[in-house]
Amino acid sequence: MQKLKISGGRKLVGEINISGAKNAALPILAASLLSERNISLNNVPQLNDIATMITLLQSMGVEVIFDDRMQLNLNAQNVNKLIAPYDLVKTMRASILVLGPLVSRFGAAEVSLPGGCAIGARPVNLHIDGLRAMGAEIEVQDGYIKASATKLQGVDYCFKEISVTGTENIMMAAVLANGKTTITNAAKEPEIVDLANFLRTMGATIKGDGTNTIIINGVNKLNGADYKVMPDRIESGTYLVATAITGGKILLKNTSENLLGSVLSKLIEAGAEIETGTDWISLDMQRSNLKAVSFSTSPYPGFPTDMQAQFCALNSVANGKAEMVENIFENRFQHVVELHRMGADIQIKGNIATSRGVDLLTAAPVMATDLRASAGLIIAALAAKGDTIIDRIYHIDRGYERVEEKLQQLGASVSRENS
Ligand code: UD1
Repeated sequence: MQKLKISGGRKLVGEINISGAKNAALPILAASLLSERNISLNNVPQLNDIATMITLLQSMGVEVIFDDRMQLNLNAQNVNKLIAPYDLVKTMRASILVLGPLVSRFGAAEVSLPGGCAIGARPVNLHIDGLRAMGAEIEVQDGYIKASATKLQGVDYCFKEISVTGTENIMMAAVLANGKTTITNAAKEPEIVDLANFLRTMGATIKGDGTNTIIINGVNKLNGADYKVMPDRIESGTYLVATAITGGKILLKNTSENLLGSVLSKLIEAGAEIETGTDWISLDMQRSNLKAVSFSTSPYPGFPTDMQAQFCALNSVANGKAEMVENIFENRFQHVVELHRMGADIQIKGNIATSRGVDLLTAAPVMATDLRASAGLIIAALAAKGDTIIDRIYHIDRGYERVEEKLQQLGASVSRENS
């Protein structure tokens, strides 16, 4: 199993390019199932989760070709297998995103029920409920969601809880359904807007994405598309926090401040100087000391749960006390136990973690438990005294493109080790 070795204590200084957004590329790839025409995608990050989605699409008969400009070309004309098997779904829960497109275009799907996850139970009841409301017959049998429909019908559907991939599944189902679908209490994440932009490029009629009410008028067929995936806001935020904890200075290119409002506000509160342009963000932490910042995670535009672990690491060495409230997932403080091993003073009570900044973290062997937890541990290691070894690094490869290369570009001492 591969590990990362990080020798802490170096300031991150320099510039890097931000990759395309994993959480936008995944639904967009799933949406390729909605058309029999050619689809070309740019800015798709090379990540394990993306490779899993491509393998899944290929297993269904989608033709997928990476051309030499790293453009991804897809064609779903000859889809012949409407199944997402357990082996793939268990490695990536976002495989559930093929459910809506399959039922909508082909009238049938068998998708393995994702199991629990390190960060919480993460049920998919709302995805199923929404599709049932559109007329799909769905049974859960032998660990599989088995869905069928002659033709999905437009519906007024209100999500009982805000769900990002749930909203995306119903959007993708609705674009080929009969008539009008109105989704209320919809997720407002930028990745929803990116999916809507992609679907519109294919000829879908969608309004209201980015607000809590999305209105979709179904069409009979969708065209091909040539589309560039949005930048990854969580990767952007992660490198900003990593630079802040080391007292460094960074320029992120190919990203946008519009995606990162709540994260940038917290970094400014922590003492960072931030400047932004149309497609760049810079952070300078060389002139001030880190101040602890409290936050509560909530759906967009609130503070993202996917940035909680990174700020937890930041707060562990910041001046003062901070309260971090996790409102989205019930078990998302597993990195805290690992941070304790590096000397952090963080107490957990229910869904609240309270940190009191220490002067210095010290290196220790630690274990990554999920994707963003591993980002938090990398950030802590960059600031710690000594060599930190992070185990189970496969989590980071799911969501951060060329992570050690980008960190090295910024002056960090990082290497990958096989054990
Ligand atoms: C997406 C993101 C993930 C992010 C999360 C919250 C992708 C591929 N993943 O995950 O990185 O951390 O949003 O911003 O985009 N819920 C239910 N029933 C459902 C669906 C969700 O109870 O059917 C609950 C979940 O358990 C959770 C909350 O709703 O407590 C939000 O989850 P959701 O927005 O669905 O997360 P994902 O879409 O899986």
